[in-house]
Amino acid sequence: MPIKNFFKALKLRVPPEPRPIIIPEDDRLTQLLGYSNPYAASQPIEPSPANPVDFIDVDLAPFKHMFDAPDLHFDADEIRSSLQKDTAPIPAKINREDYCDDHLTFWLSGYFEFGKLAAMAAKYGITGGSYFDFGGSTGRLFRHFHFQSNEWDVWSSDFKMTSVEWNIENYPSDIAVFQNTYFPFLPIEDSTFDLITAMSVFTHIDETETTWLMELRRILKPGAIAIVTIHNEDTWLNMQPALREVIEEYSPELAANPTLPSGRSVSTWRRDDPYRCNTFHSNDYIETQWSRFFEIMDIIPQASGMQAAVILRKPIKIHTNSSVTASGTTD
Ligand SMILES: C[S@@+](CC[C@H](N)C(=O)[O-])C[C@H]1O[C@@H](n2cnc3c(N)ncnc32)[C@H](O)[C@@H]1O
Repeated sequence: MPIKNFFKALKLRVPPEPRPIIIPEDDRLTQLLGYSNPYAASQPIEPSPANPVDFIDVDLAPFKHMFDAPDLHFDADEIRSSLQKDTAPIPAKINREDYCDDHLTFWLSGYFEFGKLAAMAAKYGITGGSYFDFGGSTGRLFRHFHFQSNEWDVWSSDFKMTSVEWNIENYPSDIAVFQNTYFPFLPIEDSTFDLITAMSVFTHIDETETTWLMELRRILKPGAIAIVTIHNEDTWLNMQPALREVIEEYSPELAANPTLPSGRSVSTWRRDDPYRCNTFHSNDYIETQWSRFFEIMDIIPQASGMQAAVILRKPIKIHTNSSVTASGTTD
């Protein structure tokens, strides 16, 4: 007996025919589902143009201004010795997110930022341990945590396939590098890291922001910190002309604001690529929204170029119904 008649004979409600789910070709959801595969639209790998040791005889005085920041000091001999310690090649400009025309400036940009970030972390009692650079590209920053210190066990991921391939080919195997997907998931155990950085990454994330924050929180140890850079009010007032031009072209209504509107503003210039937006956060948005997941310890303006650094701490005590502490013991 056909299944429908069987239901009718028993006077049961006939289950409806399953309806096919139709997603239009140009639907945003279809695009997003496509990104569930690792994000592959990345640049070809070009030969490395230089090694850090190539610069040990260069006059470093013209770079002194880069160290003009609290917690930093310029010492040419120390920089030379640091150049010598770094045994990995420098990636070509196309493989380093187009950062800096000059290779030594590129290396130094990560070197002094490492000094700044290590000092920021130290203020919260974090001076070593396991470190994760989320969206680390080809190691502008994380290479220095590895080569310039013995205190850090370095990990990094990026969703660009060729950046991760470059890292696998060029860094020692004790730096853990892997490719993550567009969707917020990291194949890492809970409460693994003492320090996470995400430099200029949440400035390019749109709809997955909250879930990425939660994923970063999950892998931080209780009491550990994440340093995440954002475009905030201060960035808006001091915006680089190139960034302003992009916002003016693609989001003229947003660009017309003399000051950054309160909240979260996203300017997108390509809908078919998840890495083609600029995201801005007002400080009050960070304080009201990101505080759902983290303690907001500080927002430091212009901490990385024109981007502000948000210092986030994973609460020691996690909210649960049964008042179980983060370490698993009950109060
Ligand atoms: C502007 S670059 C900054 C690279 C590096 N953090 C630095 O400071 O040199 C942004 C990086 O974030 C990566 N990225 C953006 N969204 C990401 C995501 N959802 N997951 C992983 N990486 C992402 C990009 O591929 C790119 O390497």
